[in-house]
Amino acid sequence: MSQLGVVGAGTMGTGVSQLFAEAGLEVVLVDSQRRALDAGREQIRTSLQTAHLVRGGGAKPLDVDAVLGRIRFTTELKDLSGAEYVVENITEDWEAKRRLYPELDDVCPPDTVFGVNTSAIAISRIGSVTRRPEKVVGTHFMNPAHLKPTVEVIRGFRTSEDTLQRTGELLERAGRRHIVVNDAAGFVTNRVAMLTVNEAIFLVHEGVADVRSIDRLFKECFGHPMGPLATADLIGLDTVLYSLEVIYADLNDSKYRPCPLLRRMVEAGLHGRKTGRGFHTYESATREDKAHV
Ligand SMILES: NC(=O)c1ccc[n+]([C@@H]2O[C@H](COP(=O)([O-])OP(=O)(O)OC[C@H]3O[C@@H](n4cnc5c(N)ncnc54)[C@H](O)[C@@H]3O)[C@@H](O)[C@H]2O)c1
Repeated sequence: MSQLGVVGAGTMGTGVSQLFAEAGLEVVLVDSQRRALDAGREQIRTSLQTAHLVRGGGAKPLDVDAVLGRIRFTTELKDLSGAEYVVENITEDWEAKRRLYPELDDVCPPDTVFGVNTSAIAISRIGSVTRRPEKVVGTHFMNPAHLKPTVEVIRGFRTSEDTLQRTGELLERAGRRHIVVNDAAGFVTNRVAMLTVNEAIFLVHEGVADVRSIDRLFKECFGHPMGPLATADLIGLDTVLYSLEVIYADLNDSKYRPCPLLRRMVEAGLHGRKTGRGFHTYESATREDKAHV
């Protein structure tokens, strides 16, 4: 593997780019918004500068310039013409993904694998809008992608064994484990996680408990590292809403109906950490400051 393409320089695309650039791969990171690329570069720089402190255990400081130097930031999709593997991380919006994949098909060599980093959209559905469904596979990275040890890999109906093998090899090269599951909206992780997060939002909506109490119960009683509302902020409330809508539409199951409070907060621009305010408020993308609701 000489070159990896990453599309989308938001929360996930920046983490995925950092992960593979740290592993020594040349990365081409594409976003339609120059602003997102500039913010992504700064986020990666900050993360690399503090990586040895966050990781602890005697981790050595990283060569920030060398890792950043392996990432090319561009707004041009055609710069992916040399990519052997592309990890797509654009907004969780079926229409946007449906438009992007035929363009990727035209730009990338026929053998390029498309790893889909979606929270909920079925992989076979994405494969169906490409000319290479056997080379389309779900690569569901957890957030933050450069720190989480395991990736949920989704086998679409037409994903080939060769594609799964190439995916496994790529992840191994970055020191990541993976677990393969079959295709369904939300896969395994988000079928469960989105229900939990949505139900926690309903508890706030109904006034059963405040934000801080709900998150404390999960941390202190269950030993979870984060409560469900802080998790929603980390994921991005817009991404949580879109994911619930995708699963709801796919399964026709009312248990996935998004809480009205979630919808209002997204409409009001409270998208969680990335906008500085969600259920909690944040001074930076990495620090939780205080509960807001
Ligand atoms: N946030 C999470 O915790 C998380 C975890 C796993 C998977 N995901 C999935 O990863 C994907 C990205 O999520 P995110 O949280 O990084 O979103 P985000 O909103 O932070 O970033 C999305 C980026 O995609 C860019 N974009 C949109 N359309 C584009 C196009 N056609 N071409 C190029 N760039 C385009 C936007 O400018 C933006 O910078 C989604 O499908 C999401 O469901 C998210």
